[in-house]
Amino acid sequence: MVNLRTTIGPYTFDNPLMNASGVHCMTAAELDEVAASVAGTLVTKSGTPAARDGNPAPRYAALTLGSINSMGLPNKGFAYYLDYAIKFQQTHPTQPIFLSIAGTGPADYAEMAKTIQASDFTGLTEFNLSCPNVPGKPQIAYDLETTEQILDDLFKVFKKPAGIKLPPFFDLAQFDAMAALLNRYPLTFINSINSLGNGLMIDTATDTALIRPKGGFGGIGGAYAKPIALANVRAFRQRLRPDIAIIGTGGVTTGRDVYELILCGASLVSLGTVLQEEGIPAFARLTSELEAEMTAKGYATLDEFKGQLKTL
Ligand code: DHB
Repeated sequence: MVNLRTTIGPYTFDNPLMNASGVHCMTAAELDEVAASVAGTLVTKSGTPAARDGNPAPRYAALTLGSINSMGLPNKGFAYYLDYAIKFQQTHPTQPIFLSIAGTGPADYAEMAKTIQASDFTGLTEFNLSCPNVPGKPQIAYDLETTEQILDDLFKVFKKPAGIKLPPFFDLAQFDAMAALLNRYPLTFINSINSLGNGLMIDTATDTALIRPKGGFGGIGGAYAKPIALANVRAFRQRLRPDIAIIGTGGVTTGRDVYELILCGASLVSLGTVLQEEGIPAFARLTSELEAEMTAKGYATLDEFKGQLKTL
């Protein structure tokens, strides 16, 4: 028998799987379904100060090896998710929950943080610095100065457990610079990676972009993202303070993929495209595949192989 227990800071989870923000988490009913599954925890859709309709459809398409999306931050407003999370922790006192927050400008983060700080919320807050899909707004975390300003403002007012959602990086100098910045703040975790921003896929029959927003440009997820996700989790695990945990996101379609993200240093693993395509049963399938992989490798706990990638 294997034990799938994992921890982030003082929080314990019975299973390392969770949904990725944006998938199966827009409404209380969807969040309830993740909570009732074998997933160890759940995260809300990224909430903004006011509710948003998002971009025009079609704004998501399944692809042979993953997905493309440009949702444009449709959400019910962060107060809806904060309210859900506070009620959730009353009914599920042993199950920690993540609240995801996205600004539509840099000042939004500290503003929302003040409200969360003053509330009864006792879970973890994920500040999303990597939404690629709002027309005219670049991904914040590709701009170190803006990221620094947001984190400075944020941690002046926010004292609860906090993490940030990062976009994929592609150069070792970018990992060095971002990790050096993040190590200066009282972060509990990072979540790596968000989708591969601004890909383009074309309908072969009509020669038309597959999705409508931004001329067809959108975030790429699923199997396309796997090697980039592994590299980002590994690179940050090698550079971040040991007390900053990593949530690994990107490219999971099998239990072996979950295992590999943990091997690279992830403490939790979140499911995006695979959850969108398979629905809630993905959690049970991937849990049993992870258990089978651990059994085959002779491991009884996640700690025995977490971060233990071998290199040549
Ligand atoms: C959306 C997409 C993201 O990748 C993200 O981090 C936040 C929002 C979206 O398009 O809704």
